[in-house]
Amino acid sequence: MQAIICGDVLRILGTLKSGTVDICCTDPPYNVGISYNPRNKNTHKHQCRNEDNLPEEKYWAWFKKVFAEVYRVMGPGYLYVSHSHAGIYQAKPILENIGFRYIQGIIWTAKNLPPFRKCNRLWMLLHEQILFMTKGTPVPLITNQKGLHFTSIINAARPQTNYKEKRMHPAQKPIKLYKTLLQRTPGRLVLDPFSCRGTTAQTCRYLKKDYIVIDRVPEYCKMAHQDIPWKK
Ligand SMILES: C[S@@+](CC[C@H](N)C(=O)[O-])C[C@H]1O[C@@H](n2cnc3c(N)ncnc32)[C@H](O)[C@@H]1O
Repeated sequence: MQAIICGDVLRILGTLKSGTVDICCTDPPYNVGISYNPRNKNTHKHQCRNEDNLPEEKYWAWFKKVFAEVYRVMGPGYLYVSHSHAGIYQAKPILENIGFRYIQGIIWTAKNLPPFRKCNRLWMLLHEQILFMTKGTPVPLITNQKGLHFTSIINAARPQTNYKEKRMHPAQKPIKLYKTLLQRTPGRLVLDPFSCRGTTAQTCRYLKKDYIVIDRVPEYCKMAHQDIPWKK
């Protein structure tokens, strides 16, 4: 299955069958004031600057609803969720209350990671954390395949406009990061409820996994259909 679905995450997740997804790999909006609208072709400015800026309580209530739905649609399997340096500590207990079991934290590092706006800038951020969690008891990670010696720190440059991969929006994840995560994660069907330009879909096509990816911006859904050239 290769499904790229455009629409509101809660509405679309509500249409998916329970217990069908093996892996969820995603980074939701971090509520740090980033605009995810595509840039205006003429001005190159984002069309809207006020989204991703909800009052904290409202944001985390929404986050909880989304991941409760993710939990429902997953069978026994693995969850990878990124969040901001502060948000990760709020996300973890919410996900645990839903039923996910925390396994470990993974660090994504890149020399060209920009500090988030809400960072107090005491230390320049050169990493993001990813929560690695499970629902139930899935098949163990693939750790015995030749050449797959991955560590909990993954170094992958953040896509830039002059990279083959291109940068289409401010929070885009590198394919190398998702490839590293998904390559050793058993499971056929991958869900990304916040797909944007389709980093997850692209990685799944490369790894020959099935996927369902969701985003509410039609332009990003269109991009997710196209293969992204990138340096393997
Ligand atoms: C942090 S970005 C995901 C980036 C993606 N992992 C990548 O590598 O390109 C979050 C995405 O969530 C989408 N989004 C935000 N709110 C949404 C909603 N209510 N329903 C569906 N998509 C939503 C935004 O359009 C944005 O593309």
